[in-house]
Amino acid sequence: MGRKSLGLLIACALLAHSLYTPLPENIEQSWRLMLTCAFLRIQTHLAPLLEMLGFRPLLLLEVLAVPPTSDENVTVAENLFNNVPVRVFVPKQKSSTLRRAVFYIHGGGWATGSAAWAPYDDLGRQMVENLDAVVISTNYRLSPQYHFPTQFEDVYDALRWFLRKKVLAEYGVDPSRICIAGDSAGGNLAAAVNQKLLDDPEVKIKVKIQSLIYPALQGLDMDLPSYRENGHLPFLTKHQMVVFWSRYFTSDEALEEAMAANKHTPVDSSHLFKFVNWSTLLPERFKKGHVYTSPIHGPSDLAKKYPGFLDVRASPLLADDSTLRRLPLTHILTCQYDVLRDDGLMYLSRLRAAGVQVVHEHVEDGFHGILSFGSPVINLKAGLRVVNKYLKWLKENL
Ligand SMILES: *[C@@H]1O[C@H](CO)[C@@H](O)[C@H](O)[C@H]1NC(C)=O
Ligand SMILES: *[C@@H]1O[C@H](CO)[C@@H](O)[C@H](O)[C@H]1NC(C)=O
Repeated sequence: MGRKSLGLLIACALLAHSLYTPLPENIEQSWRLMLTCAFLRIQTHLAPLLEMLGFRPLLLLEVLAVPPTSDENVTVAENLFNNVPVRVFVPKQKSSTLRRAVFYIHGGGWATGSAAWAPYDDLGRQMVENLDAVVISTNYRLSPQYHFPTQFEDVYDALRWFLRKKVLAEYGVDPSRICIAGDSAGGNLAAAVNQKLLDDPEVKIKVKIQSLIYPALQGLDMDLPSYRENGHLPFLTKHQMVVFWSRYFTSDEALEEAMAANKHTPVDSSHLFKFVNWSTLLPERFKKGHVYTSPIHGPSDLAKKYPGFLDVRASPLLADDSTLRRLPLTHILTCQYDVLRDDGLMYLSRLRAAGVQVVHEHVEDGFHGILSFGSPVINLKAGLRVVNKYLKWLKENL
């Protein structure tokens, strides 16, 4: 074999390798998913190289951002709520009655994402179209430039700005028909701000419902069955999630390493393990084949320096029952092939045990991020299904 053909063979093998992602059998349109994964991966590998050569790489994330453009049905505008940039979608048609409203929080591991991303912009429009609702899609400052609690506080500041009689009246919103919703890290923030609202004497308006789409809800146990089973699947590997969690609190890699080994919680916080004990909180079918081992205790200095992961505003699963029981009607969507699946399932168990009404939808062939694949940008059938489930639930319950 000549040197050229050997080179070609190696190049082909490398290309095939970079395109191939092993996926579970029941995932639809898997080739399209694989291409998306490959695209993301190539870009991740290429970006530093291009930068080294002096090019400013055009990141997928930038391509994804779209300007706020109004159309015949929706007025889209950008605004500041308490200095936090939000994208506001208001139906154009005049209404004789007050409208419902959705306060939406985007995902992206507290590190990426924006209300301007095409899938979120599109979701905002779909909510307007399907619900005739006013939609506030909030931004927040991101890690690693900003750490917890900045993300939480930005979202809470924007929310508090919105939940005032005067502002709601301005937007023609019915104060008794407001939903807080979010996906992934946005689901985490949605769950956290909903808890915070319960004890805020300054906010008089009660949120009617919350929708948590594959939310991250605890940063204590990184060895749940869902992490064990799905740790290498797109679009969120265990490694990525550990990086997201640890960067939410600090850029110090010591926390990342401790979290990856699941030994970051100090012994004097071990009473919190009962709130994230999958052995008691997961339904039987999700425990199958797994043996519970509680997280190993970590050094106390990490938790002293970065106490965020033990904070209920970052890990809403740590709230006690007296808080949980006051939460509104809740929708939780989980995906089978998702490291965060069990966070959602454990919150479901805890909310139900506390007497909260919860509607749970489990997507058997779903994977993390699937909601963003239902927009015209990527347009996966399973993604459209999830978007429609979400819209249908809002339509019936808000
Ligand atoms: C506006 O609404 C009408 C009626 O629902 C629909 O047919 C049309 O496609 C919408 N326009 C856009 C730009 O979405
Ligand atoms: C977790 O729950 C199991 C029972 O299902 C119990 O044996 C174990 O002690 C609990 N561990 C912690 C750390 O709460």
